[in-house]
Amino acid sequence: MREASASAKIILVGEHAVVYGQPAIAVPVSSLRAVADVEANRPSGQGLRIVAADAALTLDSHPDNPLVITAKLVLRALDAPAPDITITVRSQIPVASGLGSGAAVSTALARALSAACNHPLDNETLNAIIYEVEKIHHGTPSGIDNTVIVYEQPVYFIRNQPIERVIIGAPFSLLIANTGIAASTRTAVADVRKLYETQPQRIRAVIEEIGALVVKARQAIETRAFVQLGLLMQQNHRLLQQLTVSSRELDTLVNAAMKVGALGAKLSGGGRGGNMIALVTPETAGAVQQALFQAGAVSVFATTVE
Ligand code: MEV
Repeated sequence: MREASASAKIILVGEHAVVYGQPAIAVPVSSLRAVADVEANRPSGQGLRIVAADAALTLDSHPDNPLVITAKLVLRALDAPAPDITITVRSQIPVASGLGSGAAVSTALARALSAACNHPLDNETLNAIIYEVEKIHHGTPSGIDNTVIVYEQPVYFIRNQPIERVIIGAPFSLLIANTGIAASTRTAVADVRKLYETQPQRIRAVIEEIGALVVKARQAIETRAFVQLGLLMQQNHRLLQQLTVSSRELDTLVNAAMKVGALGAKLSGGGRGGNMIALVTPETAGAVQQALFQAGAVSVFATTVE
């Protein structure tokens, strides 16, 4: 039995604007993972079986399933026949919540399958494959989610440019709070596109303002200027509101966190539901966590960026 895995991710700053060529910063959440187990238990010639969330998939029975598409892309990249194995995929990452669940599950599967074929994929090839799969989930993704998940490191990402690593000047703590509302990134991205088409000047200005604050946020992270980072997160949340991707529930959680001393708080990912993040210190973490639950969070997860 062999096992492979991939982490969740959060977007620290810059979501949505990154689709339009602006920079964004994303970090892995290594303690939340998707895992794929390989068992060589299939009779010869029976091919690959993928078990996920109680559904059993084969390459022929579910051609449109993202996991089946992932497996086919891996086998094509390796020029290998489907091995006679079962891969079981499990994930701790909530779905449709901005944490990259789809990309993480596909990455774990691709790693397990390529290892079972005795040709573990290099990160560059794997990233290109997961980007193709992301297009099914999200329509017109920027590529940031697959990149941060495949490389599992903090990234400063600009579409179609080489990945840059963000230097973390000192570790810092975030709380990730889930509204419990599943939201489609695809729909949110498409709605921002419509808004951009109807009000190009205004929306372009918002997108450029987000890009400019991401540059400052990178400096703040590198120089340990966490008060400044918090202010930039708040500014980012207000600009995301203008892009119409926040929601009443997200705003309630952001306000609750700020009221009890978070340095900054914002939605993270596609928005409209899913998760928000709050930048906290050891002194404020407890109070912020309690306030988030009181304000309706269905879960609150602590992570350290380092
Ligand atoms: C989703 O995690 C981030 C978005 O910017 C979409 C994308 O970059 O593909 C909303």
